[in-house]
Amino acid sequence: MSETPRPLARPLVLGGLRLASNLVLAPLAGYTDLAFRLCCRAHGGVGLAVTEVIPAAALVRAPERTHRFLHTSERDRPLSVQIDGGDPALLAEAARRVEAAGHAALDINMGCPVPRLTRKGGGARWTTTPAQAARAVEAVVEAVSIPVTCKIRLGWDDDSITAPALARALERAGASALTVHGRTREQGFRGRVRLERIAEVVAAVERMPVIGNGDVRCAADAERMLRATGCAGVAIGRAALSDPWIFRDSWHYLRTGSLPPAPSFAERLAWVRRHFAHLCELFGERRAVLRFRKAGCHYARSMGLDKAYRRRMNVARDRAEIERILADVEAGRHWARQRGERSPTRPAPH
Ligand SMILES: Cc1cc2nc3c(=O)[nH]c(=O)nc-3n(C[C@H](O)[C@H](O)[C@H](O)COP(=O)(O)O)c2cc1C
Repeated sequence: MSETPRPLARPLVLGGLRLASNLVLAPLAGYTDLAFRLCCRAHGGVGLAVTEVIPAAALVRAPERTHRFLHTSERDRPLSVQIDGGDPALLAEAARRVEAAGHAALDINMGCPVPRLTRKGGGARWTTTPAQAARAVEAVVEAVSIPVTCKIRLGWDDDSITAPALARALERAGASALTVHGRTREQGFRGRVRLERIAEVVAAVERMPVIGNGDVRCAADAERMLRATGCAGVAIGRAALSDPWIFRDSWHYLRTGSLPPAPSFAERLAWVRRHFAHLCELFGERRAVLRFRKAGCHYARSMGLDKAYRRRMNVARDRAEIERILADVEAGRHWARQRGERSPTRPAPH
């Protein structure tokens, strides 16, 4: 793989939408709600954030079930809404509603491996039928004037790597950008992301920006993704859950080759508390506690918290209990190092 001489920190342009960076908060079901998006955006570096996947059918037929996931605010711009479904007409109707609600962009999930989606013709099922996928995207592009992007995997399995052909077809259908998670559906999250396969997608398209995705855990990984694949931008998912500063760090690193000072423990904890408080406002206590059981555990990695912290967080019953756990964190009762556990540290650039 050859090194690309282009500057790595260049703002991404999706159709008529110019982003402030080429870093994207990837959609993560159960996590990338407004509360978490603001935790990432507050520190800078996020060019675009994407909602968790919303079924097109629910968005059209039962909007009361989806409105929480569409909550946004002035500080949450630009926002792309991700929809899923196997029916082009429903996708187009959902897209119209997303545009009517004032969102900046629309993303179609064509990569999710979950059978609940693929059985209905959505998610990664689209990777098996590039021509049909292109027709669906054409229908959506015709229905709205906001940029329409797609997110795919490499293909269904190793015997059907369709991403390059699919990318070409989606570009011709009018997609403004394509995010490629460098694994197949069959791989799930196993193995490593295949950068050389993402590079093949970049080579296959004419002008459509390709956003590389998968296993970017630190700023140096973001640089490697850009250099090794020639992609225009990078989407970061899981790593942001423990370290919402990864966008700020990566954007700084891509521009300067160095990392800004790491946030202090107190700063991280303040943002964890803000995240949870905002979730309570958005979802109400019961749902917020359920969501934060998972989200709260992810912070253990960047903050060096022990297993007992995760055990408690995982089963927390109410807001008061989560606040008690966080008070114990503040008092230093959950530091992994004190218990002789391996202390997760901030990954260094390599
Ligand atoms: C918990 C979880 C939820 C996810 N939800 C979505 C989703 O709603 N839509 C989607 O396109 N991808 C979803 N993904 C895939 C991620 O967007 C991303 O492609 C994948 O995690 C690889 O990137 P990463 O290594 O940076 O996490 C999800 C992944 C995880 C782990």
